[in-house]
Amino acid sequence: MRVRDKVCVLTGAASGIGRATAKLFADEGAFLVISDIDENGLKETYNLLAKVKERVSFMKIDVREPKEVKKMIQFTIEKYGKIDVLIVNAGVVRVGPIDEFSDEDYDLLINVNLKGTYYTCKYAIPYFKKQEFGSIITLASVAAHIGQANHANYCSTKAGVLGFTKALALDMAPYNVRVNSVSPGATDTPMLQSDVAKQAKDRCVDYDTVKREFEEEGVLGRWAKPEEIATGILFLATDDASYMTGADLRMDGGWTTR
Ligand SMILES: NC(=O)c1ccc[n+]([C@@H]2O[C@H](COP(=O)([O-])OP(=O)(O)OC[C@H]3O[C@@H](n4cnc5c(N)ncnc54)[C@H](O)[C@@H]3O)[C@@H](O)[C@H]2O)c1
Repeated sequence: MRVRDKVCVLTGAASGIGRATAKLFADEGAFLVISDIDENGLKETYNLLAKVKERVSFMKIDVREPKEVKKMIQFTIEKYGKIDVLIVNAGVVRVGPIDEFSDEDYDLLINVNLKGTYYTCKYAIPYFKKQEFGSIITLASVAAHIGQANHANYCSTKAGVLGFTKALALDMAPYNVRVNSVSPGATDTPMLQSDVAKQAKDRCVDYDTVKREFEEEGVLGRWAKPEEIATGILFLATDDASYMTGADLRMDGGWTTR
């Protein structure tokens, strides 16, 4: 068991990569505090962890709300006295041409992807500094590395997450805390499915046409399963990655190697 008795806090656990990560970390022996804004999805994830329920706590929180994020971190410290691994996974995607993009969607992207990442780290960092160990893992994206048509605002948030992660790695190194990101490529989750559905609708083509285009972006020619991304997150959480900080693990099926 690669994270046996490690205390792991995970945002965005109701769906996709977050849910797969919760399952993998539970299988690998972690104590988990899982959270999401989607309470029903979160309960479904919790129910999937039935065998280890006593090792899992769940909290409905909105990462845009500092008070709620703080509550999640304080709860973890009160219950376990430490945080070994913080996985900053909650995210949203909104796509569209810039001249037609709504300010509401822009604010949502910034507030969830960037501010949410900042708040989640901000309230945990004092404990990481005190305990002088731990691993923080953020979710960037291929969109942090390359341009994607109609994704300018999403790309800007994920490039921001990448910059934030690298800079935070410098700040946390003196405290023996590693900070790394994972950059998934096209991963088969509700987020990607909604992205493809919207593009199909906007372009008046069918869903499978857009799906095939996304599949062909990676050299492996298929989407990742969320479970395949969870393995990268697990790797960064363990001592197998003990000499990695400020790194970005690209798990994109070869998309950015072209
Ligand atoms: N799926 C992909 O192809 C892909 C590619 C690159 C990066 N990512 C990144 O991976 C992460 C997980 O994405 P996913 O594909 O599993 O998406 P998903 O939509 O399946 O899951 C994201 C989760 O975040 C939660 N969330 C959204 N807003 C929130 C808020 N304000 N507070 C708390 N929780 C909130 C959602 O409810 C959802 O459960 C995201 O950061 C995403 O940007 C995904």
